[in-house]
Amino acid sequence: MSSRYHQVYESWQRDPKGFWAEPARDIDWFKPWDKVFDPDSGVYGRWFTGAECNSCHNAIDRHVASGRAGQIALIYDSPTTGRQQKFTYAELLAEVTALAAVLQDQGVQKGDRVIIYMPMVPEAAFAMLACARLGAIHSVVFGGFAPKELATRIDDATPKLIISASCGVEPNRVIAYKPLLDGAIELARHKPERCIILQREEQRCELIPDRDLDYAEAVAATKASGREVACVPVLATDPLYILYTSGTTGQPKGVVRDNGGHMVMLKWSMENEFGVKPGEVFWAASDVGWVVGHSYIVYAPLFHGCTTILFEGKPVGTPDAGTFWRVISEHGVVALFTAPTAFRAIRKEDPGGTFIPRHDLTKFRTLFLAGERADPDTIKWAEQHLDRPVIDHWWQTETGAPISQNPMGLGQLPVKYGSPGVAMPGYDVQVLDDAGHPVPAGTLGNVVIKLPLPPGCLPTLWNADDRFRRAYLDEFPGYYKTADAGFLDADGYLFIMARTDDIINVAGHRLSTGGMEEVLASHPDVAECAVVGIHDELKGQVPCGFVVLSSAATRDTTTIEQEIVQLVRERIGAVAALKLVVTIKRLPKTRSGKILRSTMQKIADKEEWIIPATIDDPVILEEIKAALAARGIGI
Ligand code: COA
Ligand code: AMP
Repeated sequence: MSSRYHQVYESWQRDPKGFWAEPARDIDWFKPWDKVFDPDSGVYGRWFTGAECNSCHNAIDRHVASGRAGQIALIYDSPTTGRQQKFTYAELLAEVTALAAVLQDQGVQKGDRVIIYMPMVPEAAFAMLACARLGAIHSVVFGGFAPKELATRIDDATPKLIISASCGVEPNRVIAYKPLLDGAIELARHKPERCIILQREEQRCELIPDRDLDYAEAVAATKASGREVACVPVLATDPLYILYTSGTTGQPKGVVRDNGGHMVMLKWSMENEFGVKPGEVFWAASDVGWVVGHSYIVYAPLFHGCTTILFEGKPVGTPDAGTFWRVISEHGVVALFTAPTAFRAIRKEDPGGTFIPRHDLTKFRTLFLAGERADPDTIKWAEQHLDRPVIDHWWQTETGAPISQNPMGLGQLPVKYGSPGVAMPGYDVQVLDDAGHPVPAGTLGNVVIKLPLPPGCLPTLWNADDRFRRAYLDEFPGYYKTADAGFLDADGYLFIMARTDDIINVAGHRLSTGGMEEVLASHPDVAECAVVGIHDELKGQVPCGFVVLSSAATRDTTTIEQEIVQLVRERIGAVAALKLVVTIKRLPKTRSGKILRSTMQKIADKEEWIIPATIDDPVILEEIKAALAARGIGI
């Protein structure tokens, strides 16, 4: 089949407003929009202004009303606990309504913020949808973040209430969440009025009287009362959620997602980009704490009337490298979306793909990869063993849906290895030099998107319009800066090569090295430090910390290095995966004092490096090389 991509993209270019008005008809609105796009509203314009709607209604109620009540909406598959649960759309409605009633009883209203700090359990999705039902704004915080990170988010979002659980279950250990939650509330300036705690059998916790409610008891009570909680109409431009993502400092950015544009974009993407039909089973193997989890575990599959899978496990070790194939065959998954790192992990354990033929994958059509650069080797390995299309696509927390892809629903285009495809409708992707001039095809530069951003992208940062302008819009006037470097080839295929800021991508998780440096610098024995992302076979990148100790430090360096590793786990969380700290005598700097982080990374990764002309003292680079070599790195 030839692809309709070019024709569809051109139709968007000719008439962007008319283009998005069309899929907007697939959404239930309580009141139609005044304007499809209002350029005078918000920082760069707003989509579907004046319209009223509700995201929970479009995710659940409309499907129950239109014949999907008995269809499975959500499958919870948890190899880490050995549990499985299935919820029809009608059962999902009952769970979400009951929790919404609990929230309402606690005074949660439209516009209030609710933080959700939960492991991968169905109640995490219920909590998101219950907030959406009430017009409250949820902010999910990934369970792998430490109390300090949670506290920063509590202070920024100032939630009325927090929903959490007694513990998370990782393959090798049970992680008590309650002490992390209590620690965060202790640290935060803002104190939420209530916490609703899901007691998990693996490890129950003490509830604090007058503050904590037992999730199961509270929900059972509202279920018994049979109370109905209607979906609260909100403006299309009202926030649905805030999702914090790493910025260039330790202070995370609160990405705001609105209701209307988000629904339109996600529903459109399911059919046209992912090639999935209502009623089919879609699986995003990610975590609800990340944007992939928000968009493609919870919202998009439900907006589209699909069955979604919430998987509490890992690609390997729960129990083996065949888990993904077991889930696909058992639940009839048509499309899997995960990060390349998951496939690197599977390939490492099962290089011959021997687990694959043990499962019936007849319904499975496509593997989608995103979150980090998909290396051609991994793609080819997956293609060879699965004998199905493997599609790399590129996006960010900020956009909430793919910017570039090979659009399966519109018809697959030829694959170019190393490229996450072509710009999707809504996105005019360009590559500019540092002075803001377009560069010729094939030339590396700053990847930018011409404003306005399409429906579903962030309209701003939470309570921080100025920071939004400074971080994304000021450097290249008229464009959104993605902070990715890359190039477009002559056929319009995009190649994403690196970040232009201090963000690194560890196992598909976006982390700020600047944030880690703040933690290293806070150690009393550290005089100076730098953190760089170095290559890792499995995780793509891992952080490597370089420290210069203060002259007053007298203890042995190994002890100090171990303390620093521990400090990062305590302050940021295990997810930061900082396991390597190297003590050096001096940091390499330019004469103006800028630390030469990229040269240090090149030395560690055995890439070609030249001595920068502006370096203060070139001998320092030899010292770094020797310090890394002593750890077996860069040799
Ligand atoms: N709660 C608490 N701790 C968590 C956690 C959570 N929700 N998620 C991860 N952690 C911890 C892990 O236990 C690990 O701790 P450790 O250092 O004590 O072992 C640490 O954070 C790092 O976790 P992770 O990055 O997941 O590494 P891993 O070695 O456990 O697994 C992969 C590596 C590749 C298997 C895993 O990262 C993976 O499945 N990635 C797939 C895709 C994905 O989720 N991408 C995200 C966006 S699409
Ligand atoms: P996040 O906001 O966590 O989704 O991370 C977004 C960043 O991850 C992007 O800015 C890229 O740097 C990187 N990224 C995501 N998907 C891809 C991809 N398919 N190819 C290359 N880099 C990617």
